[in-house]
Amino acid sequence: IPVEPFDFIAFGGTGDLAERKLLPALYQRQIAGQFTEPTRIIGASRSRLSNKEYREFAKKAITEHVPEKDIHADELERFLARLSYVSVDALSGNGFDALRKALGESERIRVYYLAVAPAIFGDICLKLKDHGLVTEQARVVVEKPIGRNLASAQALNDQIGQVFAEHQIFRIDHYLGKETVQNLMALRFANALYEPLWNSAHIDHVQITVAETVGLEDRVSYYDKAGALRDMVQNHILQLLCLVAMEAPSNMDADAVRDEKLKVLRSLSRINGNEASKLTVRGQYKAGASAGGAVKGYAEELQSGASPTETFVAIKAEIANWRWAGVPFYLRTGKRLATKASEIVIEFKPIPHSIFGDHAGMVYANQLVIRLQPDEGVKQWIMIKDPGPGGMRLRHVPLDMSFAQSFAVRNPDAYERLVMDVVRGNQTLFMRRDEVEAAWRWIDPIHEAWEDSGQSPNGYTAGTWGPSGSIALIERDGRTWHDPQ
Ligand code: BG6
Repeated sequence: IPVEPFDFIAFGGTGDLAERKLLPALYQRQIAGQFTEPTRIIGASRSRLSNKEYREFAKKAITEHVPEKDIHADELERFLARLSYVSVDALSGNGFDALRKALGESERIRVYYLAVAPAIFGDICLKLKDHGLVTEQARVVVEKPIGRNLASAQALNDQIGQVFAEHQIFRIDHYLGKETVQNLMALRFANALYEPLWNSAHIDHVQITVAETVGLEDRVSYYDKAGALRDMVQNHILQLLCLVAMEAPSNMDADAVRDEKLKVLRSLSRINGNEASKLTVRGQYKAGASAGGAVKGYAEELQSGASPTETFVAIKAEIANWRWAGVPFYLRTGKRLATKASEIVIEFKPIPHSIFGDHAGMVYANQLVIRLQPDEGVKQWIMIKDPGPGGMRLRHVPLDMSFAQSFAVRNPDAYERLVMDVVRGNQTLFMRRDEVEAAWRWIDPIHEAWEDSGQSPNGYTAGTWGPSGSIALIERDGRTWHDPQ
């Protein structure tokens, strides 16, 4: 469905995010026919570039990051014709008058996308306000990290909130833009089958794994200050946990959904002090083999020697409410793991009594495996009778729904959906201020406990499933990690 014409202003317009994600996503939305004329895209950053040079930058970004079959010379020219560039400096304010001139007085939708370091979010917002650029129809988009703890997140939210109202602020968590993540809501709330079983009476435990094979990827200065808990758990993993655990919202309105997610975040049991050593595991990769070749260890990649930053974390989390009391949520994420795979596993309780006798073999618990990426799909593992005349032998098999096999459509990048939701003003897939802060309230005590312990993360060989403590974390409870092959 086409959207109203809009102006998209990309601060950090020459940066990595603009190059890899934003420009390709906007191009894809144009070829999908969603733009109405005259939609404009303005790159803004400190570099001094002409419009022509910015168009060249965009052309290169699109040809490198959009599949070749989607590059059509005439569409690309039409796209580039929308682009212009303004050189701005958030600190001195230089360039904001030029931006105002470029935007004109129109009352069109304006998207200010801050693909820049959070340290200058506040400055940009204030400069936009001082130059009269914050109109009724303006929205601002901010990327994580939103703070590095509760206090800094509150400070950032205050700065942005001085200029924009909450309904104008779009805090991106790109996991919420992934097709398969949205599908979690469809699976839970568009089927009558699961919801009656979706509680502690029937579910034994939940596993959420977001495993990556990449290492630092030239992000040393950011990553070494963040670590896996801030980089992945505070946002992506907790958002996934919320979608699995929340009550049914009464509709898909932004606040209806976000109210329910917030309740989950507020119900997470705090992990403080001594508990952290029992309920959390930190790791840091050492040299090994990953993604098909030999790779360096984290400290060697850093070049500055030893670092206390974790590249892996596993947590046993609990949600203290009626639905989930006593059901552990095992969470794990890390860099340089054995494979790239993100999945959610819902393991149901075992049957109370087997009528089949020992010769029938093991009766495994039912598992619902929601594969978020790659090889997106849903597998419901069930027990069946092994076919054949050899008597009653049981077998564990999946009812298998693979997105690639079931649908011929392209799986759009998360940013395509999210950017258009910003234009439409739909905040359902964006984090509200209180959600971000509630997530930090749970994360901060874990960091504090780690710091107080004075211990370093445990080493793990690149290309494995993390430190042995992660396996112990779940096996101690008589359970095992599902192997995401
Ligand atoms: C980002 C993290 O938010 O998500 C990265 O900062 C991580 O460290 C990335 O690699 C993973 O995203 P995806 O979409 O590749 O799973």
